[in-house]
Amino acid sequence: MKETVVSGIRPTGKLHLGNYFGAVSNFVKMQHEYNCYFFIADLHSLTTHPTPQDLNGYVKHVLVEYLACGIDPEACTIYIQSDVPEVAELYLYLNMNAYLGELERSTSFKDKIRSHPDNVNAGLLTYPSLMAADILLHHATKVPVGKDQEQHLEMTRTFGNRFNRLYNKEYFPEAYAFSYSDKLVKVPGLDGKGKMGKSEGDGNCIYLADSPEIIRKKVSRAVTDGGPTAENQTKPEAIQNLFDLMSIVSSPDTLAHYNDLYNKMAIRYGDFKKQLAEDMIIANNPIRERIEDIANDTDYLRKVAHTGAEKARESAQKTIKEVRELIGFKPF
Ligand code: ADP
Ligand code: TRP
Repeated sequence: MKETVVSGIRPTGKLHLGNYFGAVSNFVKMQHEYNCYFFIADLHSLTTHPTPQDLNGYVKHVLVEYLACGIDPEACTIYIQSDVPEVAELYLYLNMNAYLGELERSTSFKDKIRSHPDNVNAGLLTYPSLMAADILLHHATKVPVGKDQEQHLEMTRTFGNRFNRLYNKEYFPEAYAFSYSDKLVKVPGLDGKGKMGKSEGDGNCIYLADSPEIIRKKVSRAVTDGGPTAENQTKPEAIQNLFDLMSIVSSPDTLAHYNDLYNKMAIRYGDFKKQLAEDMIIANNPIRERIEDIANDTDYLRKVAHTGAEKARESAQKTIKEVRELIGFKPF
């Protein structure tokens, strides 16, 4: 039996290179090796109260972009989370055994309290139980995600194991973060600090839908410094980030060439950025072209979402039936 894989992305904007290299590029490879479920986490995105128009538009963006990246609805199951209401039922059961203390200790919850103190809702607090429900619903053991999601997976294991203990059955397996590279990837942004992320602002992100002109402009504005002041010095964060981006999109020879120039204090950031932008464009172009084609094919999108929902519900309904029995909801 093939192992089961589950992963999803919240539809809060267009996908960027961080989403691609951290998550979606792994989806594309895994679909041929495992029994995969890839979904659009639209229920999760309700924590930030999107307008119906924004929500609908971003769900479509992510669906189009999943397909443009090469996720194949024939090889795996692609679905929209809200099309599978069984997940909400499992979320409710898991919440009965999720404790306030552990939910409050989640780093992403603490970050959200800091960034949005005016909207600390129960959905945000119980975000990890909904994520656990997504994963446990299909009995997944592997979850392709970026580094920032590791703590959520640890909580998923805690909730699954707790359910198993409570109902005295090894029912849910343990799920672990997965990446084909030896470490989980963290794609840096262009603003000189931290990761590429939608909430970090448009200038920080290269979107899969960005045209070559936009990519050139964004990379040319990426934060640098006055240049190295000693041979072989440790690179400051902003510069290291650009080298890390180059290690993702360029060839090893190109990376070694610019590293060498940096170490010899002969680097010209203008040339370095031009090369980085061109290699990003090469990585991005085939995806961008497919985005444009697929976005116009509404019939195809409708069919993909419909078939995906049916396949996902089949697996979800089986789990919910078994869970109800384990809990003790039995017909008279
Ligand atoms: P964003 O930070 O843009 O809001 P999400 O938090 O919705 O992105 O993340 C969606 C998926 O993409 C997750 O699996 C996450 O780990 C991955 N991801 C997002 N940004 C990065 C990044 N900069 N590097 C690696 N993976 C990332
Ligand atoms: N929390 C994930 C993120 O922010 C999205 C997500 C929701 C997810 N449910 C999931 C990822 C289940 C993997 C598995 O990116």
